[in-house]
Amino acid sequence: MLQEKYALQLMESEKPEQLYKYLFNELPENKAYYQKSINQTINAVIDHLETRTTPYSGATVEQISERFSRLPAEYQEGNSLQIVLEELKELYLNDAVSFHNKKYVAHLNCPILIPTLAAEVIISAINTSMDTWDQSAGGTFIELKLIEWTLDKIGYPQAADGVFTSGGTQSNMMGLLLARDHFIHNNYAVDPNLDGLPAEATKFRIFCSEVSHFSLKKNAALLGLGQRSVVPVPVNDKYQMDPDALEEAIIKEKSLGNIPIAVVGTAGTTDFSSIDPLSEIAGLAERYQLWFHVDAAYGGGLILSDKHKEKLKGIELSDSATIDYHKTFFQPVSSSGFFMRDKSYINYIKYHADYLNSKEQEEEGIPNMVKKSIQTTRRFDALKLWVSLRTMGTQRLGQYIDDMIDLAQRTSLMLRNRGKFEVLNHPEISAIVFRYIPLPNTKVDVCALNTYIRKAMFDEGKALIASTKVDDQVYLKFTLLNPVTELSDMQEIVEHIERHGHNYFRNN
Ligand SMILES: Cc1ncc(COP(=O)(O)O)c(C=O)c1O
Repeated sequence: MLQEKYALQLMESEKPEQLYKYLFNELPENKAYYQKSINQTINAVIDHLETRTTPYSGATVEQISERFSRLPAEYQEGNSLQIVLEELKELYLNDAVSFHNKKYVAHLNCPILIPTLAAEVIISAINTSMDTWDQSAGGTFIELKLIEWTLDKIGYPQAADGVFTSGGTQSNMMGLLLARDHFIHNNYAVDPNLDGLPAEATKFRIFCSEVSHFSLKKNAALLGLGQRSVVPVPVNDKYQMDPDALEEAIIKEKSLGNIPIAVVGTAGTTDFSSIDPLSEIAGLAERYQLWFHVDAAYGGGLILSDKHKEKLKGIELSDSATIDYHKTFFQPVSSSGFFMRDKSYINYIKYHADYLNSKEQEEEGIPNMVKKSIQTTRRFDALKLWVSLRTMGTQRLGQYIDDMIDLAQRTSLMLRNRGKFEVLNHPEISAIVFRYIPLPNTKVDVCALNTYIRKAMFDEGKALIASTKVDDQVYLKFTLLNPVTELSDMQEIVEHIERHGHNYFRNN
């Protein structure tokens, strides 16, 4: 016994001094290290804000990858955090793409709210995991309050429920997963949760507009239905799903012996920000007994705007919906929600793990959120939205949405008036697809010209725009999510586009 005690003491004394200094805990020296580290990190971010005035530095892939090739292969202790932060400036921060910059108008990345950054400090320090009550306690109720709030804004009935997810892709997956299992439960003597899919599943068909998000196809493949189960429905000249074409597609698939199970309406398509006619789609879903999912990953933010929320009319009739808070609620990645009309749907994917969410706990009414999620360990992303809403309220956020949409509409008109652009859409939210065609009759390859412009803009870094393809033709795209951007900024961006376009002509 004495010998054992002696051996233990020896082991303790062999530990290097300050072995545990890196761990976040209540010890005075650890607390001091934490505080100093966070302050140094904030300074590095402030430095980034002060030194980077453009959305991108213009660094090339080769330049950045060369810096990484010079790093040692192994990691050894010895650098202070300050040195690591200095190195990080070189490796990452100096060339990071700045979504907060007024001239970042490329993809669906929003500027973020300062209250969310305060929340991030707590989220990462406390490190709550949202899967079970015994890991999250009050965090569960914060998430539940926000779910309730969103359900109310969607207009779902009392029985509805939801959960935070990692993004629109995961939320869309949950929509299709429940759609698939709902159909199987109602039509086959098979429990997909236990037995997998019936043989007929190869004939299942899901309808969505031809300009809907690619995650629907990827998710269909992951769900064992295959990408071919997704039937693209033609859109009208506003890039909205044509309900007559939807009905035709449903009838056609049935006549081929296939089995329609679901329809997805998009509220805010990725390229055009168009919104499908949700009420009409809901009517067809009811007539043909299809699950109706609304992908409002982009358009979800309209629920905050008194001026624009009518555009989402019909979402309240859906069976499930996706809303990305990290797109139009000005939240940092990740923050998204999946919502369903009836909380009992989640039973299709129910699993009781004895160590986490036992049956007994459920009977006791313990709110274990893992039941509703396809993740297990899950970040407390809800806290960011919570701190935002408690600090700012909803009205000011709604104003941000209104300003963003207003800017998009004025930008679309400005582009048309310049006479050098073909503009494909007038934005329902804030995405504009267009291309530079200064002289319609020139023999220049318009796709090559616009591909060149986008790349030249990125290489220069003064303003970032995106590109996409429509009918196999290359177009440029603005996605306007920054309420601080003004029409004069957009005019400057357009001048850069014209300058690069002009250079292309000079060199070709
Ligand atoms: C309409 C739509 N749905 C889904 C997604 C996927 O969202 P996430 O990137 O958050 O997974 C996107 C992303 O741009 C989108 O635009």
